[in-house]
Amino acid sequence: MTAPSESALRYGIDLGFPVVDENVFRTVVGHFASGVTVITTADGERSYGTTVSAVSSLSAEPPMMLICLNRSSATHDAVSRAGRYAINILTSRQGELARAFARKGDDKFAGFGHHLSEHGLPLLDDTLASIECVVEETAVGGTHTIFLGRVLAAEARDGEPLAYYRGAFGNLERALETAAYEGARDWVLRRRTPLHETIEVEALAAELRIEPALVDNALIRLATESLVRAVDGGRHEPAPMTSELVDQLYDRRATIETGVLERYLADASEEELRHIARLGEQVIELVPDSPEVLDEFLDLNLDFHAAIVDLAGSKQLTSGYRALNVMTVWRETYEPEDWAQQLGPSFVPRLVAAVEARDTAAAQAVVREQVAFVKAGAKRIIAANGGQV
Ligand SMILES: Cc1cc2nc3c(=O)[nH]c(=O)nc-3n(C[C@H](O)[C@H](O)[C@H](O)COP(=O)(O)O)c2cc1C
Repeated sequence: MTAPSESALRYGIDLGFPVVDENVFRTVVGHFASGVTVITTADGERSYGTTVSAVSSLSAEPPMMLICLNRSSATHDAVSRAGRYAINILTSRQGELARAFARKGDDKFAGFGHHLSEHGLPLLDDTLASIECVVEETAVGGTHTIFLGRVLAAEARDGEPLAYYRGAFGNLERALETAAYEGARDWVLRRRTPLHETIEVEALAAELRIEPALVDNALIRLATESLVRAVDGGRHEPAPMTSELVDQLYDRRATIETGVLERYLADASEEELRHIARLGEQVIELVPDSPEVLDEFLDLNLDFHAAIVDLAGSKQLTSGYRALNVMTVWRETYEPEDWAQQLGPSFVPRLVAAVEARDTAAAQAVVREQVAFVKAGAKRIIAANGGQV
């Protein structure tokens, strides 16, 4: 008899036949393009919400929906207690909101407009649609509970849906392009093709399972960001991280962040400030002592700074800011002691305090100081590697 799979063992089930590997399953299932929702509920005074793609309409007579929530989710427990939930279907402009509600935290609603419905459920503003349900039945499937809900109220508005495809948010047309761009960027920054070697588009396209033409376009875009450079015959190789490039990228980030603080911090809403502070506190709490936590730390730190840039309310500015982030390069080249040094002094608590006090000059000073510090660390590593990484 074949050995049971790792996942079957983990859940204590010996099916007696092989089942699919978890990683293969995740990758394959990511090929199912879905919309994105935030499931919300209220339990007593507190509102809960989480980003969810496992949502489906179930029956029209009577009108019913189903949602699948992981039992480890705080929203899961709140829906169980409250016996009702709202499905907020997001628009293509609500990618940041989807990211924010995909995290753990007590104050996810801060920074995002919402109101209580007649049925006492928190509804997010400016969504594509909302559907309010009362739980009629539940079923258990693996790690999740399926909540079957009778629809109490439903409302839709005009707009374009937010799509989720292979780990990337976007609108439906752009989802593939975004997946190609992000996949190629990650490949380049992780130096999957070593410096001074040509990037094999076919190999990269095969890994990403995306057509080579889209990968070519992604490489052209990465060339405009100085992360790859063109070589003969329309091909590309990774651009080395040099002292000059570090200056360029980090100075641009500082210019955006300090510019936004200058123009928008004074008039930011309390909710926006709470949202930034909450992300900052999450960064402070994380101790990046393993590769997994380091990844999470770097993502969260980027989200924290991007939330500051988001005060401008410009999707373009925020995505431009995100595109300047090259931490992945250091992720692959720093030794543990480099990280300890890079993350040593705590700029985040000072930045949070300055933002909360709406002290523009102090916040800008922390951003400049932090950028100078990170640049100096990066340059030390570059120098230690013969001038390029
Ligand atoms: C695109 C996307 C889809 C997700 N879909 C689900 C889902 O269907 N069910 C689920 O339980 N979690 C899903 N999650 C994960 C939750 O959002 C995440 O675990 C969250 O931290 C739970 O927060 P909570 O503990 O405050 O409820 C999804 C996350 C993302 C980014």
